[in-house]
Amino acid sequence: MDQNELKQQVGRKAVEYIQDGMIVGLGTGSTVRYMVDALGQRVQAEHLNITGVTTSLRTTKQAQDLGITIKDIDEVDHIDLTIDGADEIDDDFQGIKGGGGAHLWEKIVATNSNKIMWIVDESKMVHQLGKFPLPVEVIPFGSKHVFDELARKGYKPEFRLADGKKFLTDQKNYVIDLHLGHIGDPFALSDELIKMVGVVEHGFFLDMVNTVIVGRQSGPEVLQA
Ligand code: A5P
Repeated sequence: MDQNELKQQVGRKAVEYIQDGMIVGLGTGSTVRYMVDALGQRVQAEHLNITGVTTSLRTTKQAQDLGITIKDIDEVDHIDLTIDGADEIDDDFQGIKGGGGAHLWEKIVATNSNKIMWIVDESKMVHQLGKFPLPVEVIPFGSKHVFDELARKGYKPEFRLADGKKFLTDQKNYVIDLHLGHIGDPFALSDELIKMVGVVEHGFFLDMVNTVIVGRQSGPEVLQA
């Protein structure tokens, strides 16, 4: 199986955890895309009453096109389960997300969810975080100064670009990716970054996930954090 087939495998597996009547947080990314496709098929075939709360405009469009009812996060009083992808997950189930630039809304949805599930292909499982650049979302105003401060700290920042211009999140912010290589203490760095004025959110998702489904050649592996 290639990487896309592994992503499809975990996407299909994850929707087995969705039950009629649930309010489900729908993440963002290429793996979640397969999950939302599979959920759309179930909703249509089984006439399920599912409400989705989405984490990006991309996922909203896909889900609505498939006939899944979508509500804004502020229209629901709880979210039963959020299913999302991840960029790296370490041995302690700490994660980095935001490769697609959706980590701000993803973290808000995750924080308001009773249960969180991540679906990944096996390449995302690492012993130590940091090979994947850590995304930091910053408001455009004054962002060069935030960038310079990150550079002074030695965090190897790089503004994320799209079509030659600074990438804009759905919230119309910029993303600065930190090329750290390895991260010794994610909790300390998380505290440091979130205290920087102008930083809206970073891609660390620490002590958050309950279940991880890993796509492996031998089949999906379900891990409880
Ligand atoms: C979106 O910003 C991210 O947090 C994604 O969930 C993450 O990048 C995983 O995406 P893929 O499933 O496309 O690898």
